[in-house]
Amino acid sequence: MNITNEKVTAYINGLYQPLNPFLESLRQEAENNAIPIILRETETLLLTLLEIKNPLRILEIGTAVGYSALCFAISKPSSYITTLELQERLVKTAAVNFEKAGVKDRIQIIQGEALDTLLKLEDNLKAGKLDSFDFVFIDGAKGHYLEMWDHCIKLCKPGAVIVSDNILFKAMTASDLYLDHRRNKTIVNRMRGYLRYITSLPGVVSTVLPVGDGVAISVIGEM
Ligand SMILES: C[S@@+](CC[C@H](N)C(=O)[O-])C[C@H]1O[C@@H](n2cnc3c(N)ncnc32)[C@H](O)[C@@H]1O
Repeated sequence: MNITNEKVTAYINGLYQPLNPFLESLRQEAENNAIPIILRETETLLLTLLEIKNPLRILEIGTAVGYSALCFAISKPSSYITTLELQERLVKTAAVNFEKAGVKDRIQIIQGEALDTLLKLEDNLKAGKLDSFDFVFIDGAKGHYLEMWDHCIKLCKPGAVIVSDNILFKAMTASDLYLDHRRNKTIVNRMRGYLRYITSLPGVVSTVLPVGDGVAISVIGEM
């Protein structure tokens, strides 16, 4: 089920302006090929947050064809992005897109299971080979957000912003009435646990918004 009113969403999306013609055609291609990329309204929310936060180092979990990473790189020309993707085929496509957009020098794409990569990034941070991040976008496997959060928080600077996408998961997180298939029950339970966790964590301010498929924005308090 769509979590938002369709007419209102259509109106908001009528105001949407693509960042540039390359991203406009990449969005079209991804939508035509059923490749999941951020929704238009999620994109504008992210771009607004980037303007407020002005991050230098951005971590993304879930690259797909590189659409959201390109939004970050293009809207914030001084930023460096590390993006993690499981599927080799998508990593190759994203790398081509980063090159075509002329930003490949500012985006590092790491192929593999995100939880493994996050552990390696933690080791690199401890060894002084990596700087911490000030903006994180979690958009990978929905059943593992909590584990990803636990790694990400260790990789973040105080004051960092963590944005989690698809947290309402077609309204299923809000109520079992919307459950489309029994197999989604585990993901839904985990997502509920994740939202309970990030909204009650001392030192972290989180908000859960019904934008796109649901977006949580968390600010990690200065310690
Ligand atoms: C929703 S898509 C990401 C879309 C992208 N952020 C965008 O908006 O352009 C989620 C991606 O996460 C990847 N993914 C899923 N499980 C993963 C895992 N365990 N480790 C790394 N990547 C994973 C999928 O292959 C998929 O490409």
